[in-house]
Order: sequence, then structure tokens, then C-alpha cells
Amino acid sequence: MPADAHITPKERIAKDLAAVPRKPGAAKPDSIIVADNVTRRFGGMTAVDVHHLEIQRGAITALIGPNGAGKTTLFNLLTGFDKPNSGEWSFDGKEVSRMSAAKVARAGMVRTFQLTKALSRMTVLENMRLGATDQSGEGLLRSLVPPLWRTREAEITAQATELLERFKLDTKAADFAGSLSGGQRKLLEMARALMTKPTMVMLDEPMAGVNPALTQSLLGHIQDLRDEGMTVLFVEHDMHMVRHISDWVVVMAEGRVVAEGPPATIMQDEAVVDAYLGAHHETDLGDDSLLDDEVLVELEAEAEAEEHRTQEDA
Ligand SMILES: Nc1ncnc2c1ncn2[C@@H]1O[C@H](COP(=O)(O)OP(=O)(O)O)[C@@H](O)[C@H]1O
Ligand SMILES: [Mg+2]
Repeated sequence: MPADAHITPKERIAKDLAAVPRKPGAAKPDSIIVADNVTRRFGGMTAVDVHHLEIQRGAITALIGPNGAGKTTLFNLLTGFDKPNSGEWSFDGKEVSRMSAAKVARAGMVRTFQLTKALSRMTVLENMRLGATDQSGEGLLRSLVPPLWRTREAEITAQATELLERFKLDTKAADFAGSLSGGQRKLLEMARALMTKPTMVMLDEPMAGVNPALTQSLLGHIQDLRDEGMTVLFVEHDMHMVRHISDWVVVMAEGRVVAEGPPATIMQDEAVVDAYLGAHHETDLGDDSLLDDEVLVELEAEAEAEEHRTQEDA
């Protein structure tokens, strides 16, 4: 029997990445994204200045770094929501730099985006249906126009229903999306992104505002995506989550990739911790607490409010 007959996807990926040098811009054995010389300036300020970056196919990669490091900007560039000043990158072997967000989504790379006011006033199921057609806010509304819509409606509804069941939101299908808790919104955002059957999912701070009760469920869903063969790239401040679920960590500071490696290596790298994550995150890295106090207070308040609502409903 081969030695790796029973290893988990996580173990297999760790093995695949074991020989990758722990240095910025390191080549990967099977890259789904290859980016070169990507820059984005705002006025005189350079928000993103990435010389070379490769993202391993099928892995969960965490993008971390202090506020203002350029994580969200890089995210927006890769997914077509923003245009670079320079640079090229490919996704799944296709040149996608400067493509529209809709085209990037059709190529198989989708990002979650938050519930806008308009989307909050739609039901959970309507949100899901919109996810099937386009991934940009206004395009979503335009895409409601028949007849293209009607021809696929039944198929789309079936797929939406299946995903809502998977994310345990099926009982909420007819509720307004705005009535969901913070954690349920995150689940809906993820479920909606899956409507296009993507190859790669990009998550910007998936744990922000999530009730502790839903934390494990959300982590499980993200790992399920990876275990099904999807590539996941996420930006996150919660170091517990980064350490717990990521296969690889890329550290950004001042627009550049300054370090990368497996989570255990990166988290133990004192230079990385001190120089790039700062004092606030140092405590977060040191102890094993899930969330820092400030966030916890907010989440507790949210959980309490939710409990009140549930009691009123009963
Ligand atoms: N639309 C914008 N206009 C001007 N400056 C921006 C814009 N978006 C981001 N920036 C700046 O670019 C830098 C990187 O921001 P961002 O990508 O949001 O960082 P991060 O997500 O790592 O916190 C910050 O200094 C931010 O103020
Ligand atoms: Mg950001």
C-alpha cells in the first residue's frame, strides 16, 4: 500500500508544499495564480507592489498583514474589481489581468461580497439566485431581466436550494437577507459565491462579525471547499483561524509580499510577528484565544440581541 493512501487533503497539500522555499514570491508545484509586477497607486501612495506571487491550486492560502498593507486592494485587483497601474497575472492558465469582475467570475474565480442595502431587502433565496448570474452588485440587478433569466430559473432555484441546505439556511430561504445574524450573512455570502460553481473562492475577512456559535461551522465550510478540490484565498485578522485552517500563509506589508510559508513557520517567525503584525496582533498570536476582547464584546452583544429576537419569535 502506498504510504500516502489514507492521508487527508490537508496532509497531502502540506506534503506538496513542503519543498517550497519559505521566501516571498516562491514558486509553487501547482500554481493556479501566477502574478508579476502588480502595482496599484492611489495618488502618490503605492498600495500594492507585488513583484511575484504564486498561489497553490487546491490549497487554503491566508493573506495576512497589518491594516493598510494592501490586502484588500490586491484582492480587488485579482478579482477584477479594480484595475492595476501595472502588472500581469494568470488564473488557471488564462491571462485575466484587467478583465472585468464578471469575466473573472466566469473564468472560475469568485469573491464574496457583503450584503448591500439593496441585497438586504431581498430574500435569502433571491440573493442566491442573483449569485448565479453575475458577481457584481449592479450587474446582479440587471441580470434579472428575462428571457435569459426564465430559461434557467428552475435549474438555478434547485441549485440555490441545495446550497442553502448545505449551509443550513434553507429554513431562512423566504426571509429577508437583512434579518440574518452576522454569521448567517457570512454563510449566505459564501453560499451565493458558490452558485457559479467556481474553481477558486476569495474571502475577505470571513470571520468578521461572526457569532462564536457559528465560528466552527464557518471554518468547517471553508475546509470543505478545499477538501472538495476548490482553491481558497482569504484575508483574515483572526490568527487562530489562520493557524487552524490555512495550508499556506502570505504576509503583506506596505504593498509588498514580505514573507510566506506554512502557518506554523510563519506564526513562529518572531521577525514577522514583530515587524509586520504589530503589538495588537502579538497577543493574539501568543495565546490561543479565539478572538480578542474587543471583538468578543461585540459578538456577545450580537448573540444576546439574537437571543432576544428568538425569544420574541417563540
Ligand atoms: N480607493 C482608494 N483610494 C485611496 N486610497 C486607497 C483606496 N483603497 C485603498 N487605499 C489605500 O491603500 C492602502 C492599502 O489599503 P487596503 O488594500 O485596504 O489595505 P488592507 O486591506 O491590507 O488593510 C491603504 O493605505 C489605503 O488607505
Ligand atoms: Mg482590507
